[in-house]
Amino acid sequence: MSTATVSAIEAAKKAAGTTAVANHYPKDAKYVGIGSGSTIVYVVEAIKEAGIDTSSTKFVPTGFQSKELVKQAGLQVADFDTVPEGTVLDVAFDGADEVDDELNLIKGGGACLFQEKIVALQAKEFIVVADSRKLQSRLLEAWKYIPIEVAPIAVNQVLAKLKELGSIQPYLRMAPLPHDGPMKEGPLKTDQDFFIIDAPFKTLLTRADVAAGKGDGNGKDGLWEVDQLARTINEITGVLEVGIFSGVNGPQARARGLTGGQKPVAAYFGMTDGTVQTRKASQ
Ligand code: A5P
Repeated sequence: MSTATVSAIEAAKKAAGTTAVANHYPKDAKYVGIGSGSTIVYVVEAIKEAGIDTSSTKFVPTGFQSKELVKQAGLQVADFDTVPEGTVLDVAFDGADEVDDELNLIKGGGACLFQEKIVALQAKEFIVVADSRKLQSRLLEAWKYIPIEVAPIAVNQVLAKLKELGSIQPYLRMAPLPHDGPMKEGPLKTDQDFFIIDAPFKTLLTRADVAAGKGDGNGKDGLWEVDQLARTINEITGVLEVGIFSGVNGPQARARGLTGGQKPVAAYFGMTDGTVQTRKASQ
């Protein structure tokens, strides 16, 4: 990637972060979820730049990187397991690897999907920030695989099951080799000390596709609908969590007596021309 392209992408991420904070940072927030990845950095930057009074706010990270980000910004950290039972986070911000027309997400490109999901599920509103590369109409259109967090001992069984489900050559994610030094290569470990399997599938159907008769979405003809695939992968013994965020969003969850949802109420995409595109839930 050229330097000009890299700086255009960074500017796009910043624009998305700034707009998301301007539109969704709640007044008098008590708990705010802060996700992982490179775009979330601009959300934290925007909170600081906006001069928001955060003296009564605790920031709930989704992993090691995000905790460091919060600490370095001088904000107060509350680890997820220290948040008092029954507390609902006012809002959670996070990045995504791909977003479809129905606001389903692929996450986990940075290996943090499990904590990202439990934080999103505990928030009143979940907001996604990304750059234009993530804005697609279907999942697995541009992004190539679904990250899945698995127990190390079960890797081979999970790989076999994923192949049965139609995944095209799923593989165990390896840790990048350091630039120098004697460390040996090995599987990447998550913040839970689990492994990540990256599972490519054919482009996923939305619920609207199934309703329009474009397939059953149960994988029998090789085509999966987002939510059906997410539930099926989560049922495999040895899977901690799948990097598909689907189902309901926060307000829809509350209408059903639940706390929060996996789907965002809004996603902000910084475009290369400097504008920000928004995809919002209809309810
Ligand atoms: C971390 O595992 C992911 O879910 C990230 O939120 C996602 O990969 C987005 O990262 P970027 O903001 O770096 O694109």
